[in-house]
Amino acid sequence: MPRRTLIAGTGSYLPERVLTNRELESMVDTSDEWIQERTGIRERRMAAPHEVTSDLALAASRQALEAAGWGPEDITALIVATISPDMPMPATACLLQAKLGATRAAAFDISAACSGFIYGLQIADGFIRSGIHERVLVVGAEILSRVTDWQDRTTCVLFADGAGAAALRASGPEENERGIRSVSIRSDGNLWDLLYIPGGGTQAPQSERVVAERLQFIKMKGNETFRVAVRTLEMLVVETLRDNGMEAADLALLIPHQANIRIIQATAERLGLSMDKVMINLDLVGNTSGASIPIALDQAVRAGRVAPGDHVLLEAFGAGLTWGSALVTI
Ligand code: ACO
Repeated sequence: MPRRTLIAGTGSYLPERVLTNRELESMVDTSDEWIQERTGIRERRMAAPHEVTSDLALAASRQALEAAGWGPEDITALIVATISPDMPMPATACLLQAKLGATRAAAFDISAACSGFIYGLQIADGFIRSGIHERVLVVGAEILSRVTDWQDRTTCVLFADGAGAAALRASGPEENERGIRSVSIRSDGNLWDLLYIPGGGTQAPQSERVVAERLQFIKMKGNETFRVAVRTLEMLVVETLRDNGMEAADLALLIPHQANIRIIQATAERLGLSMDKVMINLDLVGNTSGASIPIALDQAVRAGRVAPGDHVLLEAFGAGLTWGSALVTI
C-alpha cells in the first residue's frame, strides 16, 4: 500500500472583535434579515488594527503544531494560502516562518482565493507522497476586512478575518487506510472578472487614482458567481465521490467553503446529504476565503464531529475562478 498524506494536527484562530449584522445596518443600507436570509451570516470576526495576516496564521499554526506534537523546526515546507498578504513581498509564509521559528522550512504563498487551502493540500500531498518533504504545514489566513469596501453593501456583509492550519505528514505502515485519498483542483481564468481586486498590482499600481476609485477593494458580480458556484460544486462533489468509489452515505462530514448557506444547501441536496452531516460555521465566522476550510476543519475536529477513520469531503470555490475538492480519511 503506497503511503498517504495524513492530517496530524489542526488549528485555527479568530480575532476577538465580533462585527454583527446589526452594526452593519448602521454602516451601509442593509438589514440583519436580508443578510441572514440571503447568506446565512449573523456575525463575523475582525482583526485588531495592530494584527497582520501572519499574526493570525501564527496563532493557528501554533495550535496545529501542538495538536501534531511537532516543534516548528520539524516543518520542511510551509505553505500559506492568502489573498490578503501582510505585504506584496515577501511571501506571508516567510514572515510566518520567522515568527514561528520554522527554520528548516521552504516557505511560500499560493494565491487561489477561497480554494487556496485545497490547492495547498494538493501541493503538500505531492510533496509528501513523492518523498520530497516529510512534514508540511498548510495554512489559510486572511484579513479580508482590509481589502473590503465598507461602502459596498454587496460585499462588505460577506467577508471576514481568520486563520486555520493543518500539519501534514506521511502515514506510517499501520496508518495507510487514513489520509488524503484524492485532491482535485481546477480553474477557469476566463471568468476572472466575476471576483477580483483591480488595484495594487502592475495593471493599476497603488496611486491616488486607485484610492479615489476604490480599486484596492474586492469587486464581485455576486449573482453570476453564485450561479457558477452552485453548478460547479454540485458536479465536483458527485465526481469526487464517484472517483473514490464512494457514496454520500459513506461520508461522516461535508466541510464546504463557507461563502453562502444557499450554495452549501444546494450542494448537500445534490448529494442527498442531510444538513446535520454538513459543517456550518459561516453564521458566526462569515467568508474568510483561504482560511474558511481549515477553520471549519479544525472546529469540526475539536468539537468531536470527526474521528480517526471517518471520511470527510472538503470543497471550495472562489476567485480565479478556482475550485477544488479533497476526500480525506481522518
Ligand atoms: N443588503 C440589502 N440588499 C442587498 C445587499 C445587502 N447587503 N446586497 C445586495 N442587495 C440587493 C441588491 O442590490 C439587489 O437589489 P435589486 O434587486 O434592487 O437590484 C438585491 O439585493 C438582490 O441582489 P443579488 O445580488 O441578486 O442577491 P443574491 O441573492 O445573489 O445574493 C450574494 C447576493 C449574497 C452576494 C450572493 O450572490 C452570493 O453569495 N454570491 C456568491 C459569493 C461567492 O460564493 N463568492 C465566491 C467565494 S469568495 C472569494 O473567492 C474571495
